[in-house]
Amino acid sequence: MNADLSSLLAVGAFAITVAVTALVLLVRGDLAPAGLRPMALSVGGRFLLGGALGLGVIAFSIKVAIILTLSSFPGKTIEPLIAGVGSQDGRDQPPLPRPDPKPYEWQSLPTVVPAPADNPTTPAKVALGERLFHDPLLSRDRTVSCASCHDMAGGSGTDGRATAIGIDGIVGKRNSPTVWNAAFQARLFWDGRAGSLEEQAKGPPLNPDEMGMPSFAAIEERIAQEADYAPLFHAAFGADAAITMDRIAQAIAAYERTLVAADSAYDRFVSGDSQALSPRQQRGMWLFQSSGCIMCHAGPNFSGASLVGPRNPYAPLFAKRSAVAISHGLDRETAPRGVWRIPSLRNVALTAPYFHNGSVSDLREAVRVMATAQLNATLVSTTQQPAQPRWDAEAKRFLPPEQRLVLGEDDVEDIARFLESLSSDTLSARIKMAAGERR
Ligand code: HEC
Ligand code: HEC
Repeated sequence: MNADLSSLLAVGAFAITVAVTALVLLVRGDLAPAGLRPMALSVGGRFLLGGALGLGVIAFSIKVAIILTLSSFPGKTIEPLIAGVGSQDGRDQPPLPRPDPKPYEWQSLPTVVPAPADNPTTPAKVALGERLFHDPLLSRDRTVSCASCHDMAGGSGTDGRATAIGIDGIVGKRNSPTVWNAAFQARLFWDGRAGSLEEQAKGPPLNPDEMGMPSFAAIEERIAQEADYAPLFHAAFGADAAITMDRIAQAIAAYERTLVAADSAYDRFVSGDSQALSPRQQRGMWLFQSSGCIMCHAGPNFSGASLVGPRNPYAPLFAKRSAVAISHGLDRETAPRGVWRIPSLRNVALTAPYFHNGSVSDLREAVRVMATAQLNATLVSTTQQPAQPRWDAEAKRFLPPEQRLVLGEDDVEDIARFLESLSSDTLSARIKMAAGERR
């Protein structure tokens, strides 16, 4: 208990003792035989006693009222009162310590993706969706399927290019993100313009740079002409096996909800295998948290734009304050609404090149871009080296040190090694095998 509070209580206890003693003396005097009563009390002594008891009842009610009021605003009413006691100006006091904000909880990715009520994930729908995803019929010249840019067979769900190539060899403006774990994302596309996989799947077929179909009706007609699709639609959607763009999108989305890649060293580490991450990866994980990457890449899918974990879907890319980012041309195209959807970092080591324009091909360089642009960090060769002091020539003095994060190359390396631990074992093995076959 602090000193102010104890002295306050001591004064209170003293006042109560004095009051009780006075009352006891009064009552004793009042009840004494008439001859022995002091003069003052013999006149109207009973009124005095009655008055004292009445005042007591009133005082008690006031106390109860005060206690009830204070206890219904805990921490608001009483703390400033206590803080103010003993000091002339309570505002000079440092604020009372508040409990720490909730500590960050590292989580493994769930293995099942939540599906919307109107599109439950069923095996028949998934099978239809997988077929449609790989079908070049969805493109004008029948050469490009979803899988052309989101390689599923031997790849990480991307095309490995800086920016995508659509029909007629048209080079697009944006990098292809992976479709693995994309189903966990609450916002899709680099700028987050799609709010569901169903909505997203209707985009590429009509995009003139990607699949270039003239209309949804044209797509429905093409699929209807393909005889072996009818039984698949029947199995997925029941007796009324109408082929509509809504159903095409629903089936593709159901298939994408099965594309979960959560078998990474990181997942094994947070599930209890403390050997799953090397000491440097654990240090990188700690730096990822302590330097602030988790402000944006939060939750089990490492993105605030996910259906799982804390929500913080969008952030601007502060490329202007980062020489590294500018050197990759990252300040040129700004997001349509000024902000980008925060991408997931799952399998990031398998999905180079990076950023919306695919301008960075090295993961360590991507970490340098983020550290300088998003966290305004100073990069040095080692953390032991102090940042260069800033000299104000006019005022002839050193400027006060900026509260800037300083990261060494060793820190960048450890963060990158931690990001490598987010790669799915299955995907890594598949990519290695495909690379072997190509040789
Ligand atoms: C020509 C290459 C290309 C084709 C074909 C293509 N995509 Fe994409 N995909 C991209 C690019 C590029 C983006 C990012 C576009 C953007 O953000 O503006 C993307 C984004 C996505 C995303 C969002 C991922 C995320 O994390 O936000 C999903 C899901 C997706 N595509 C699924 C599909 C499906 C389903 C099809 C087939 C109907 C398809 N794509 C066809 C290149 C392609
Ligand atoms: C203020 C929010 C914010 C913070 C903090 C942040 N990022 Fe990012 N990160 C983003 C956004 C937004 C993008 C996409 C930018 C773009 O493509 O132009 C991104 C992209 C990335 C990418 C590229 C992903 C890909 O698939 O292309 C990596 C890697 C990355 N961040 C790592 C980090 C690391 C490591 C840190 C901490 C040093 C960090 N980020 C801190 C918002 C943030």
